[in-house]
Amino acid sequence: MRDRLLQLEKAALSEISSIKNKEAVIELKNRYLGRKGELASLTKELGKLSHEERPVVGDLINSIRGRIEERVNSLLTAFAQDEREQRLKAERVDVTLPGRYLPLGNSHPITQIMDEVVSIFLGMGFKVAEGPEVETDYYNFEALNIPKDHPARDMQDTFYISDDVLLRTHTSPVQIRVMQGKKPPLRVIAPGKVYRRDSDITHTPMFHQVEGFMVDESITFGDLKGVLTAFLHSLFREDIAIRFRPSFFPFTEPSVEVDIQCVMCNGKGCRVCKGSGWLEILGAGMIHPMVFKAVDYDSERYTGFAFGLGIERIAMLKYGIDDIRMFFENDVRFLRQF
Ligand code: DAH
Repeated sequence: MRDRLLQLEKAALSEISSIKNKEAVIELKNRYLGRKGELASLTKELGKLSHEERPVVGDLINSIRGRIEERVNSLLTAFAQDEREQRLKAERVDVTLPGRYLPLGNSHPITQIMDEVVSIFLGMGFKVAEGPEVETDYYNFEALNIPKDHPARDMQDTFYISDDVLLRTHTSPVQIRVMQGKKPPLRVIAPGKVYRRDSDITHTPMFHQVEGFMVDESITFGDLKGVLTAFLHSLFREDIAIRFRPSFFPFTEPSVEVDIQCVMCNGKGCRVCKGSGWLEILGAGMIHPMVFKAVDYDSERYTGFAFGLGIERIAMLKYGIDDIRMFFENDVRFLRQF
């Protein structure tokens, strides 16, 4: 019996020394140490032994069980630790890996210039107003002192929806809408889309304007010059030369067109400024008494100036783009450059 027990221990320990995985350890543990395992069946034979032998062999069985158990348990711990290490390795996050690329858009160059123009005027205390793109003849023309037979209507190639309804040809009708609803003092800009039947490398049927106006008691032409000069210096360059040229608009009197020194040739004369050294940037003037009459303002008490400018033209000059249609072709290779 003693020999059989020692042999069993030897066999178990040698099996253990070549074991490869956790499952095999558990199987071996059951086979040797389980309730119906080999050690248990030898234990049953204790009864056949003599009184003297029984405790001695019993002790031997217990110590063999102890040694096998100890080896088995230490193996199980080792395998568990191994498994844990493997899992941690597999789960490790490499924080030095580059992040996933999220495609990021940018705002359209026209939007960018629009935002810049608006923010300069916000800085001078102007408020933003908006009006409808589908407008009536009255707001787009009549109230702006452009009656039905006025030659100025020919300059504006209007998209008509009906005799009386049209796509606004400029942002000036917003002047009327704002003044109808509010009393002076007013400092307002109105950015938005306008429409004209025109299409070539400097014209598209839809383009953007910013209208602005200021009305109060004793607003003068000096205020017009001061505000527009500050605006253009901020938009282009602090020291850019500016020129006010007499002009005509039905809704202002006197009227001016405002030029800046050509940004392409610095005034020397080039293709863009057609050799003149100057670029026309905006139209402006002192609001006409007929316009004040249309909104029921007393033109003896109030005066004001107004101006309007085209955003595409400014964007073309700032970015050196010579075909306006590029803005609306939605070619991302073009748009990504801004
Ligand atoms: N509405 C004019 C246009 O579209 C631009 C303009 C000129 C607006 C003079 C004004 C102004 O307010 O005073 O050509």
